[in-house]
Amino acid sequence: MISASLKEEHSSLKSNEKIAVTDSTIHIDKATGLVVDKGLDVVTAHCTGCHSSKLITQFHTDRAGWLEKIRWMQQKQKLWNLGEAEPVILDYLAKNYPASAIVHRRAALKGIEWYRLK
Ligand code: HEC
Repeated sequence: MISASLKEEHSSLKSNEKIAVTDSTIHIDKATGLVVDKGLDVVTAHCTGCHSSKLITQFHTDRAGWLEKIRWMQQKQKLWNLGEAEPVILDYLAKNYPASAIVHRRAALKGIEWYRLK
């Protein structure tokens, strides 16, 4: 397991600007590339057999969107019935790969000399 500590600084924000900051530390499971969180084992078991976990990490949607995706795979791609695992998987996906792209931005660039393109 590797962990990336992403601390964001917002000192440059004006006081009236609001920004949502979520967990600043994310652990990524080295074997799958998926975020380490409750349900990872279930997601790994059901969701990484047919395709790369990259398909999951690159996809962002809300819980309903994830359910729709699962139904689509069940209808078209022979994904099995997830049974009791389904709500666990949906919780995990909606939390860790949500629609509102929670972007972990790099720190603002500093000390750049801008120049005009000719
Ligand atoms: C039975 C095989 C199978 C399993 C198991 C499976 N998928 Fe898929 N999934 C597919 C196929 C096939 C595609 C289409 C791949 C492609 O387009 O190259 C796909 C595509 C996707 C995509 C991309 C959708 C898009 O529109 O870009 C996501 C996200 C995804 N799967 C998530 C999951 C999740 C989450 C699980 C676990 C619940 C899962 N998959 C389990 C077969 C499966």
